Amino acid sequence: MSTQTDSKPWTVPALAQAKQEGRKLVMLTAYDNSFARVLDRAGVDLVLIGDSLGMVVQGHDSTLPVTVDDIVYHTRAVARGLQRALLVADLPFQSDATAERALQASIALLQAGAEMVKLEGAGHKLEVIRYLSERDIPVCAHLGLTPQSVLKFGGYKVQGRDQAAADKLLADARAVVDAGASLLVLECVPTQLAGQITAAVAAPTIGIGAGPDCDGQVLVLHDFLGLDTGHRRPKFVKDFLAEGGSVSGAVQAYAQAVRDGSFPDAAHSY
Ligand code: KIV
Repeated sequence: MSTQTDSKPWTVPALAQAKQEGRKLVMLTAYDNSFARVLDRAGVDLVLIGDSLGMVVQGHDSTLPVTVDDIVYHTRAVARGLQRALLVADLPFQSDATAERALQASIALLQAGAEMVKLEGAGHKLEVIRYLSERDIPVCAHLGLTPQSVLKFGGYKVQGRDQAAADKLLADARAVVDAGASLLVLECVPTQLAGQITAAVAAPTIGIGAGPDCDGQVLVLHDFLGLDTGHRRPKFVKDFLAEGGSVSGAVQAYAQAVRDGSFPDAAHSY
C-alpha cells in the first residue's frame, strides 16, 4: 500500500524514495479530463500523456504522426483533472531529435501542466537527457520496445532477447540514468532482464510487458479497459474493467494488483 497520503501530491524526489522503500508505483495513460479525474481519485500515482494517443485516440497505425501541439492539448485537459498524481508527457516523434528542439518542446509541455517529459532511446538521446536535466526538466527515459522506432524494428517486438541485446539494454539503462533520467519505462523486455536493470539503476523502473520485478507498472488506458482499438492486443495487456466492474473499480483492482505484486503474472510477461 502506498504511504503517499491521498492529499499529498507526488513529487519527483518522492518517486526515488518509493523505490528505496520498496513501494510499487502505479501508472496509467490518460488523454482527457474526465478519465484523469477518475484515475487520480482512484489512487494512480503517475499519469502519462502517451503518444499512444496517436493510435488509441486519433486512429493512426503508429505514434509517428503525433505532434507537440497534440500532446500539449491533451496535457492541458489532463492536468486540470489531477490533484495527486504526477503528470508525465511524451516528447513525440523527432521533437527530441536535438537538445534544443527537445528543450523547446519540453517547455511547452511543462507550461501545459506536465511535471516530467518522457523520451525514447539512448545513444544520441543521452546528450538530450543531460541537456534537459541540467535545465531542471525532469526526464523519464523509455527503453526496450520504443514505438517511435517501429520502422527500424520492423514491428512491435520484444527486445533484449539474446545476450548481446540484453547487455546493450542494461548498458543503455545505466547510461540514461547517469545522464539524469529520474524514471525509466521498460517496454516489452524479458522479465529476468527487467529485474536485472531494476536492481542496477537508482531511478525507479516502470514496466509495460517487462514482468513483475520493475518498481512500478504502466498500461495504456484503452487496453486496460479492454476497448477494441483496432490494434493487436499484446500479451501483457489485461482487461481490468472485467474484474473491477466500473472504471474506478478497475483502477483500484489494477493499483492493488501492482502494489501486491500479482500483476503482471507469468501469463502477462515475457
Ligand atoms: O505512449 C505511451 O502510452 C507509452 C506507454 C506505452 C509507456 O509510451
